[in-house]
Amino acid sequence: MCVECGHTFRSMTLLSETAAHPAAVERVPTTRRYLMCEPKYFTVEYVINPWMDPDQPVDTAKAVEQWTALKETYERLGHKVETIEPEPGLPDMVFSANSGTVVDGRVLGSRFRAPQRAAEADHFRRWFLDNGYRDVVMPERINEAEGDFAWTGEVLLAGTGFRTDPGAHAEAQETLGVPVVSLHLVDPRYYHLDVALFVLSEAHDGRRAEIAYYPAAFSEGTQRVLARLFPDAVICTEEDAACLGINAVSDGRNVVLPVEATRLAAVLTARGYEPVMVDISELRKSGGGPKCCTMELRG
Ligand code: ARG
Repeated sequence: MCVECGHTFRSMTLLSETAAHPAAVERVPTTRRYLMCEPKYFTVEYVINPWMDPDQPVDTAKAVEQWTALKETYERLGHKVETIEPEPGLPDMVFSANSGTVVDGRVLGSRFRAPQRAAEADHFRRWFLDNGYRDVVMPERINEAEGDFAWTGEVLLAGTGFRTDPGAHAEAQETLGVPVVSLHLVDPRYYHLDVALFVLSEAHDGRRAEIAYYPAAFSEGTQRVLARLFPDAVICTEEDAACLGINAVSDGRNVVLPVEATRLAAVLTARGYEPVMVDISELRKSGGGPKCCTMELRG
C-alpha cells in the first residue's frame, strides 16, 4: 500500500505498479456548469437533520458572503455558474443540489420528504423550463436529487435510508436512461449520499471513475458493493465526514471542500488532486456544505 495516498497495489510488478498508482495519473479538469441559489433567506428554523438547531444563531449575511466566495471559486476555476432567484420562506433553497438531477440535458426534478421544503421543487422546475430544458420530469416518489444521486460517468450512485425513496432509484433509471446502483445509508448524521460519498473523477477513456467515501455511513452490504465497484476509492474517516468534508465538488482535478477537511485534502494532494478550501461554516449549521449548494448541469 502507498503510505501517502492509501492506494492498494494489486500487481507485484514494479513497472505496472507505478503505472497503476493514482498519483502518477495526470488529473485533467473539465469545465462544468452549476446551478446555485443565493442564501438570501437562509435561517435554521426547523429541524430535519441532526445538524440543525434553531437555538443556535445564524448569520445570514455571513452565509451570503461564504456562498459568494464559493461561487467565485468556481468561476475562478473556469466553471460557469447559473443562479436561481431565492424565495422568501424557503431557507434551505440554497441547497440547490437537492432540486434536480441532470444527465445529458435530461432533468429529473425533486420531491422533498420534509413538507417545509416541498415548495422548492416547483421553483426549480420552472427555472429549468425557463432556461431551455425541454425534457423535465417531476418524480412521483420522494427524491432529493443530487443530495442522494452521484453520477460517475457510467452509473448513477443512489442513496436511500433517510430521504430519497428506493422507488425513486427505479424512476431515475427509467427517466434518465442510466444504470442506477442503490446504496443504503445508516447514520442519521450522514442523511444524504452527498455527505458520505463524492466522485473525484468520472469514468473516461477506459478508466473507471474514482470516488471517495466514508464506509461507516453505509450498511454492510453497501460497503461490500462499494469495495467491489471502486477498489481504488479514497477511504474517508470520521474526521473527514464530521466537518462535512466529503460534501465536496471535483472537476476531475480541483476539489472544492470545507477548510476543516485538512486530512482529506492531504490524501487528495498525494493522489494528484488540487484541494481548494472554502469556509462554509454558516451553511453547515443546516447540515450543508459546498456540494449541497451546487447542482451540476450536465449537457
Ligand atoms: N437543511 C437541509 C436539509 O436537511 C440541508 C440539505 C443539504 N443538502 C445536501 N445536498 N446534503 O434538507
